[in-house]
Amino acid sequence: MPELIPFLKKDSIDKMVAEVAHKISSDYKNRELVLIGVLKGAFIFLADLARHLTIPVKIDFVRVASYGSGTSSSGNIRLTKEIEIDIKNKDVLIVEDIADTGLTLTYLIDYLNSFGPNTVKVCSLLDKIERRKTKIKVDYPCHEVKKGFIVGYGIDYNENYRQLPDIYCLKF
Ligand code: IMP
Ligand code: MG
Repeated sequence: MPELIPFLKKDSIDKMVAEVAHKISSDYKNRELVLIGVLKGAFIFLADLARHLTIPVKIDFVRVASYGSGTSSSGNIRLTKEIEIDIKNKDVLIVEDIADTGLTLTYLIDYLNSFGPNTVKVCSLLDKIERRKTKIKVDYPCHEVKKGFIVGYGIDYNENYRQLPDIYCLKF
């Protein structure tokens, strides 16, 4: 079994989430915000983020598969669940667990733009900036990750560890 190295504890995650929610609440005041969570990894982050917001929002999800069972993205992205809310002329905020190469987010931004939204921006709990292969901008990053494979707080390795309240780095 791989070893779990503590990376972020629940209380520091809470602080980061509250802070970014505060920023989003003020930036999107009097707008029509739709949060689009990226399943499955972002489900806990989105649940916490939404409860910290002080503005009304609508919530929807997409599901994207790209990893298979390894620790690096296959780059072969498949949308396995479409949006169900009409986002035409709405302000859309993608809520993602980790921005890595950026391929998933590039794909999702293109997909969402095809519905004619007013704006599409990105909020990501973790940001692996140094591994980026595409030119996307994470508008609301919470925490940078320099190296390693992350699990916990919704984020998995082979579908394991999503339930952990804290975030860990996996040592193989
Ligand atoms: P990208 O397309 O390379 O940016 O990959 C982004 C997706 O890969 C994220 O939505 C995550 O689900 C997954 N991912 C990237 N890094 C990690 C990690 O360290 N642990 C678990 N999943 C990861
Ligand atoms: Mg993901």
